[in-house]
Amino acid sequence: MKKAEDQLLVIFGASGDLTSRKLIPSLFELYVADLLPERFAILGAARSAFTDVQFRDAQRKHIREALSGRQMDESALERFLSLVYYHAFDSVHSVQYRELDDRMEALRKEKGMADQVLYYLATPPLMYEKIPQFLLENHMNEPADPDGWRRIVVEKPFGTSFASAKQLNDHLKHIFKENEIYRIDHYLGKETVQNLLVLRFANGIFEPLWNRNYIHSVEISAAESLGVEERGKYYDGAGALRDMIQNHLMELMGFTAMECPAAFEADQIKSEVSKVFRSVRPFTPVDMPERVVRGQYEGYREEPDVAPDSLTETFAAVKIFIDNWRWSDVPFYLYTGKKMAAKRSEIVINFKATPQVLFAGQCSGESCNRLIINIQPDEGITLYFGLKIPGVGYQVKQVGMDFRYKSLSDQPLPDAYERLLLDAMEGDSTLYPRSDTLELSWQLMDPVLAYWNQQGQEGLYNYPPGQNGPAERCVIEPEPQSCPFLPR
Ligand code: BG6
Repeated sequence: MKKAEDQLLVIFGASGDLTSRKLIPSLFELYVADLLPERFAILGAARSAFTDVQFRDAQRKHIREALSGRQMDESALERFLSLVYYHAFDSVHSVQYRELDDRMEALRKEKGMADQVLYYLATPPLMYEKIPQFLLENHMNEPADPDGWRRIVVEKPFGTSFASAKQLNDHLKHIFKENEIYRIDHYLGKETVQNLLVLRFANGIFEPLWNRNYIHSVEISAAESLGVEERGKYYDGAGALRDMIQNHLMELMGFTAMECPAAFEADQIKSEVSKVFRSVRPFTPVDMPERVVRGQYEGYREEPDVAPDSLTETFAAVKIFIDNWRWSDVPFYLYTGKKMAAKRSEIVINFKATPQVLFAGQCSGESCNRLIINIQPDEGITLYFGLKIPGVGYQVKQVGMDFRYKSLSDQPLPDAYERLLLDAMEGDSTLYPRSDTLELSWQLMDPVLAYWNQQGQEGLYNYPPGQNGPAERCVIEPEPQSCPFLPR
């Protein structure tokens, strides 16, 4: 694989949780796999008063924690840490960016690097507008060398509504070009999600069936067993719809429903996802009761930093229709919840039943055919179909044909951040959502949020931790016996 061009990676918010839990361990994995650029350095920038040595010591500990249980190449770890630097500064003061720029310049000179810089905003969201603004004021948004480049990665949450997402997009686009802005959605970095495109478009056998003539419904879910843990402050202001559905699950729906792009190129793929989002039927106050449902796990209001009378949903399910030729009338169920029975993210394609039922009791009266794409854990794909149980008569049983990623390699699957970081370094934005899809997704979700806000406590169903959300979750399914949110 070709290595990315020489570059300096500047991480804002470097003393935070994301940097230590995800970014630095992922960069170390890339280093071990020999995928980092030849000339490369990481400059962490944040308010804490670390020296380079202290920052490296802290990152050494975090890498060990992140990779615990795996064999560690100690000398590789030390060589990697020698690429890591730290600059203490207060990102809210524009004048301090001059010193940061001097430090960047000095590092580039020391390493003999071209004028190529990737910025990563791993800060609280309130800095997503300010830092780019200060970069602009200090002429750090553009390279001094015309052959150089600047790129910027922005973490989620990308806005909290259509208006705020649009404002952030407009602001960023006034400072950087669209192809320099990388809005991260870590779900798109998951191996199984990328493989969805390969499954669909590298095989001739699925695509002819991948439409309303053969598919009854699609379920896209991300269930989590954990609660909000220490993130009550953020989560209580966000909720399940904003936290998971507006971004991760909508993007998965885009990949599941899109047409085959003319070429495997970032913009072509994004345009297809955008077309899907443009065809989604808006939610209206009239159909909302049959298309959305929300819940809150018991005990949520006692979690740290959560309001004692919080109306934030920790479970959300929405029924989406994509009104185009391929998908008209096929419901897409998107759902997510915290404190569910198990952690599991999957895409389920439910095929229609056969037009004639030849065998009594065939697959308990339902379609025998279902394709499950296990995003995590136990990454893989299972195709279900009906077969005869050996012996007398014709008793049909639904059986699954399984593929598991672990059968392909002994190596654990790369973390989503490894893939996404590498792509941003290489300037490949295929797996990064474009501004229009993000805004379209917010436009769809805003009315749901407004409806829930207006409902208040009404329609916010409690559910016991460790189960599959509120019993009322099935209200959006016309046939409760086939409620898609039941555990399989
Ligand atoms: C994050 C959400 O984007 O995704 C978290 O903010 C959630 O609330 C997490 O727990 C889930 O990611 P994964 O990769 O563990 O499914």
